[in-house]
Amino acid sequence: MNRLIVAFAIALVVASCGGADTASGRGEALVQDLGCVTCHTDDANALGPPWVGVAGSERPLDDGSSVVADEAYLIRSIVEPGEDIVAGWRPAMPMFFLSDTEVDDIVAYLLSLSGDALVPTMPFDEE
Ligand code: HEC
Repeated sequence: MNRLIVAFAIALVVASCGGADTASGRGEALVQDLGCVTCHTDDANALGPPWVGVAGSERPLDDGSSVVADEAYLIRSIVEPGEDIVAGWRPAMPMFFLSDTEVDDIVAYLLSLSGDALVPTMPFDEE
């Protein structure tokens, strides 16, 4: 009986966090469908920087400046990937043509990953 209640509670939590009926849930589905996650994994050898901890953190850029990863930065990173290049990474991200709603959903998902910051891995040496 208790186990059933626990299972039900877990199901509710899962549904409210990752469900496709929330902006961040739709964003999570979109980044799978669009293939963003083929580059953005937590693997140090991945083509793109891991997303966990990016939102709200200070991002070092390859021109020596840095920028706080607020919503505007995240939107710009998605719709104009050539604008801000994260230091240590190659400008390898392709252009995506997304609706404003899709971008908002993806940004909501990225903001939900702001929790435990990973130290940004920089697999490429600058030569
Ligand atoms: C071919 C690999 C590739 C794909 C596919 C890709 N990205 Fe990227 N992305 C990168 C690379 C490389 C960077 C770092 C260089 C830069 O800043 O542009 C980056 C940077 C970013 C950043 C800034 C991250 C930071 O650390 O500040 C965001 C946000 C982002 N991508 C979102 C997306 C989203 C959303 C998609 C799918 C719509 C996507 N990317 C698809 C390679 C990729």
